[in-house]
Amino acid sequence: MPDAKDYLLLVEDLHAYYTSKRGLVRAVEDVTFGVKRGESVGLFGESGAGKTSVALAVLGLFERLAMFGSDAGSTETKRLWALRRQAREQGLTSKDMGEDLPGVEGKVWFDGRDLMELDEEELRKLRGKEIAYVPQTTMASLNPYMTIEYQTAEGLLAHEEYDDLSEDQVAAMVLESLDLVELADPTRRRRLKPKEFAMGEDQRVLIAMALITRPRLLIADEPTTALDMAVRHKIMRVLSAVREKTGMATLIISNDAGLIAEVTDRVVVMSAGRVMESADVTTIFKRPGHPFTRAFLLSNPTMEVLRRIRERGLRIRGIPGRPPDMTSPPPGCPFHPRCEYATEMCRDTLPEYREVEDGHWVMCHRYEELPPLEL
Ligand SMILES: Nc1ncnc2c1ncn2[C@@H]1O[C@H](COP(=O)(O)OP(=O)(O)OP(=O)(O)O)[C@@H](O)[C@H]1O
Ligand code: SF4
Ligand SMILES: [Mg+2]
Repeated sequence: MPDAKDYLLLVEDLHAYYTSKRGLVRAVEDVTFGVKRGESVGLFGESGAGKTSVALAVLGLFERLAMFGSDAGSTETKRLWALRRQAREQGLTSKDMGEDLPGVEGKVWFDGRDLMELDEEELRKLRGKEIAYVPQTTMASLNPYMTIEYQTAEGLLAHEEYDDLSEDQVAAMVLESLDLVELADPTRRRRLKPKEFAMGEDQRVLIAMALITRPRLLIADEPTTALDMAVRHKIMRVLSAVREKTGMATLIISNDAGLIAEVTDRVVVMSAGRVMESADVTTIFKRPGHPFTRAFLLSNPTMEVLRRIRERGLRIRGIPGRPPDMTSPPPGCPFHPRCEYATEMCRDTLPEYREVEDGHWVMCHRYEELPPLEL
C-alpha cells in the first residue's frame, strides 16, 4: 500500500459513477495513483476513459456536476442521489447500502490530508489555492468582456488571505503569472481582452490564472486539444518552464501522446474507467507492457514513436472495435473485446493491477507471455 506521506496527491481505490437514463455510468473504477511533490504525472488514455472524471473527483466537484447532469429529474435518479446523501451522512459506502450508488468513493489524500473528509468550504479554499485546475473546455472559461489582468487577478479574490494586498501588489502578481506562461509584452497586453489575443494565447492566460496563487499542484485537462502544431509546442514549453521555475507538481490529462511524452515524468494509462498500466514515461513510450497501451500508442504515435515504428517495419493501426459502454462494462478484463491476446480467463476474470517490475504496474493476466515490444 502506498503511504500518503510520500505523495503530494494520492488517489486510492477511487470510484466515480454518474447517473443516466440507461443506468449508472461507471466512469471511474478502482483508480489508484500518486503524484509526488514537484513531479509531473500524465493521465493518458482514450476519449471516455474517465480522465476528466478523475480530476473532478479529486477536486470535489464530481458530485455537484453529476447530480445536476443528465436524467437529473427522473424518480430513479433522485432516489439514487438521496441514498448517496444518506450513505454519506452515516459514513457508509455503496457496499454497506447493498446497492451501487452514484458519486465518489475511495480516498484522495493531498499533502497527507484526506480530502474526502473536508466540507465544501474547506474544499473551496483548497481549490484554486493549493490545487489549481485548468478545465478541458477552454473557450468557455475566459470572459470576453474583461481584461486579462482582471481575470487573472480574480483567482485571488476568492481567498480572503489576499484581501489586504494593495493594487500594486496584485498587479505585480498578475504580471509574474503572465510572465511565467511567457505571454509576450505582458505589461502592455494585460489590459487587453481575450478577443485581442491570438489562438492559443487564451490557453496560456488560463494557465496564468491558475498559477496566480502559486498552487502546489496544477491539474491541466487537455491543455493542447484543438490547437495547431505550433501553438501546441508553445503550450508544452510553457508547462515545462512553469515546472522548472516554480517546482510545482502537475497532473496533465490528455490523449495527446506527444504532450504526455514531452512534459511528464510518469504516466498513468486509463481505459474504461480503470488504470491499465503506469510507469515512468520512458518505459511507457519505449516498451509499453499492457496490450491497451501498445494498441493506443500504435494508433496514436508521437513523431518519435512514428519514426521507430517505420524503422522496425511495424504497422500503424487503430484499435479495433469501440471503447466499452460504461453503463454495462464487459465482465473480466475491460479490454478483452478489443484485445488480440484475450483468452477465456480474460473474458471471465478481472486482472489484478500488479507491480511487474520496480515502479511499473500492469493490469493484465498475460503480461509475462506477451511478445516483447520495443518502440
Ligand atoms: N455528466 C455526465 N453524465 C453521464 N455520463 C457522463 C457524464 N460526463 C461524462 N460521462 C461519461 O463518463 C465516462 C468518462 O467520461 P470522462 O469525460 O471522464 O472521460 P475522458 O477520459 O475525460 O474523455 P475525453 O478524452 O473525451 O475528455 C464516459 O463514458 C462519458 O460518456
Ligand atoms: S488481461 Fe487478457 S484481454 Fe486483458 S489486456 Fe491482458 S491479454 Fe488482453
Ligand atoms: Mg476529458
